[in-house]
Amino acid sequence: MVNYKDLGLVNTREMFAKAIDGGYAIPAFNFNNMEQLQAIIKACAETKSPVILQVSSGARKYANQTLLRYMAEGAVEYAKELGWEHPQICLHLDHGDTFELCKSCVDFGFSSVMIDGSSLPYEENIALTKKVVEYAHQYDVTVEAELGVLAGVEDDVVAEESHYTKPEEVIDFATRTGCDSLAISIGTSHGAYKFKPEQCTRDPQTGKLVPPPLAFDVLEEVEKRLPGFPIVLHGSSSVPQEYVDIINTHGGNLPDAVGIPEDQLRKAAKSAVCKINIDSDSRLAFTAAVRKVLAEKPGEFDPRKYCGPARDEMVKLYKHKIIEVLGSDGKAE
Ligand code: G3H
Ligand code: 13P
Ligand code: ZN
Repeated sequence: MVNYKDLGLVNTREMFAKAIDGGYAIPAFNFNNMEQLQAIIKACAETKSPVILQVSSGARKYANQTLLRYMAEGAVEYAKELGWEHPQICLHLDHGDTFELCKSCVDFGFSSVMIDGSSLPYEENIALTKKVVEYAHQYDVTVEAELGVLAGVEDDVVAEESHYTKPEEVIDFATRTGCDSLAISIGTSHGAYKFKPEQCTRDPQTGKLVPPPLAFDVLEEVEKRLPGFPIVLHGSSSVPQEYVDIINTHGGNLPDAVGIPEDQLRKAAKSAVCKINIDSDSRLAFTAAVRKVLAEKPGEFDPRKYCGPARDEMVKLYKHKIIEVLGSDGKAE
């Protein structure tokens, strides 16, 4: 049994309470490799932003769970080395789909877990979430649950179309499960293709796709019923057009990629939404930088020469999110 407190990590309870009070959101950045982790920590140390390091079950398989636990412990030490006196870093399981996976993460030093029962019938989602909460809370590990289904693919959770969260269910769900935060569905989805072109309009000047707005009315209804309760937004990458263009002009092919406009996320961050999940934008930043170096210098074969610029680009991206979108800078001195 590894206790996350011994690794210098924190759970989400205090971060969320402060974020709701302060009208900002905590960044939840996924990572799979050293460069992403370095970039996240550098960006957060330089901006003094609390952060949630997210690991999906796929990332856990890719990186190895033992290595991940030491990487998280190393991240805390690296943050201090960078001059961040009191790093507020949470290690979180993203989209856990079984009790066993969540338990294993609690036992391995995670400070927060998500149990995603959103594809299950309502009562089964409650039963599974409650079981995870009862186990995790024994170790002061916080639990995120999900109600409503996002369009697209959520790890192994597959949904054909988006089903918005039903506000009339949230009080019953939160009370009966005892979860610490709730991911809701208001029109976001995972990946770089969040909307089909036919769901969007076209900007007459640029010809670029403009997605439909998020369902803020659903969010407001949820907030009314659960005042002060931490709400989570998955699928919140913006899919920056400049990265898509670099990828497409350097041998890639991402036609009609589209994300959530940043003004929508800024608005959400000021509400009870206190955790915003971003993975795809980091993948795009990384891939754009790597493609550019390899296209411009075809003789290059030292991974540091293309992973280094990719890391620098991700630092820029994370700082932009923290300062310009989520408003979490300066919240963890
Ligand atoms: O929600 C999905 C995350 O972006 C993780 O994706 O399962 O490919 O690691 P992944
Ligand atoms: P994006 O694909 O929009 O980055 O969403 C990531 C996410 O929700 C991770 O759980
Ligand atoms: Zn997600």
